[in-house]
Amino acid sequence: MGDVRIVEVGPRDGLQNISQVVPTEVKVELIERLARCGLSIIEATSFVSPKWVPQLADARQVLQRIRPLMQQPERRFPVLVPNVQGLDLAHQNGVSEVAVFISATEGFSRRNINCSVDESLERVRMVAKKASTLGIQMRGYVSCIFADPYDGPTQPSQVIRVTQALLDSGCHEISLGDTTGVGTPADVKKLFEEMLRVIPASRLAGHFHDTYGQAIANVVKSYEMGIRTFDSSVAGLGGCPFAKGAKGNLATEDLVYTLQKMGLSTSISLDELVSTGTWISQKLCIPNGSRAGAALAAR
Ligand code: HMG
Ligand code: MG
Repeated sequence: MGDVRIVEVGPRDGLQNISQVVPTEVKVELIERLARCGLSIIEATSFVSPKWVPQLADARQVLQRIRPLMQQPERRFPVLVPNVQGLDLAHQNGVSEVAVFISATEGFSRRNINCSVDESLERVRMVAKKASTLGIQMRGYVSCIFADPYDGPTQPSQVIRVTQALLDSGCHEISLGDTTGVGTPADVKKLFEEMLRVIPASRLAGHFHDTYGQAIANVVKSYEMGIRTFDSSVAGLGGCPFAKGAKGNLATEDLVYTLQKMGLSTSISLDELVSTGTWISQKLCIPNGSRAGAALAAR
């Protein structure tokens, strides 16, 4: 295990916002390639309403096809679920870890999952109750840690309240999402200074979107403050259909490049990752969103 843990979210967060239909076999090949890069935690898909996110309506087929990988004990393939219905589908399809998600803020909560923050916490408690009887692990996401696309700036107290609630519900780790990618290292410092007084760094992960080019700077600041788990997406794919203007996630290639230059071990092949980022960008006919990936591919 390396010094830093990377949760690859490309197949879920990366693809959910893409309007053209991505064939199931491309999704499966993406996951297989990412696994070959040495990524051991790959968020594979989501079981949400297919009316809300049509792109991931083939979750069942994707999971069926990656079943041999899912059976390898050193690998984890969490799947995003918004409610008990999603948990049941995940369970029926052999999933052993789900990710639940809530917003720190009301506006995005309504637009993303059609309920208030408190209602979403109640849904999470119902998922948690059933997940524990099924032996399914639960990771948690908090969105809009710095700002909400509808409500404006978020206060650290809002983030701390829901993070604590998710931990109390049984999530083993909470991934803190800068959904719109507006945060800077100054915001990271302000949030973590308050948060780490009450929640250990070992229970937290950083999930930065790169809309304003701040994601890698935010990782470095978080690392300095003790965070050791980061979410990222190959080729910087990503965005959220319910957060207008939000661009891609932090690119996994950029993250691995930075960590390696910091002398940290990741157990990931940067060369394989760069090839995978080039391949998926070409498949989707979009520019490679990773600066390091594009630069290394051009050498
Ligand atoms: P709703 O319309 O209020 O709920 O949606 P509903 O219970 O009335 O269900 C509507 C329909 O969806 C019904 O079907 C349900 O059966 C079905 P119908 O009777 O109309 O045919 N349904 C489901 N189908 C499959 N799987 C399910 C499921 N649940 C209901 N689990 C709901 C509420 C939560 C379902 C909806 O709002 C939804 O699915 N939202 C998902 C939105 C989403 O996926 N957003 C992107 C992920 S979050 C994100 O990207 C942020 C993150 O990356 C961190 C960050 O960056 O901040 C995590
Ligand atoms: Mg995200």
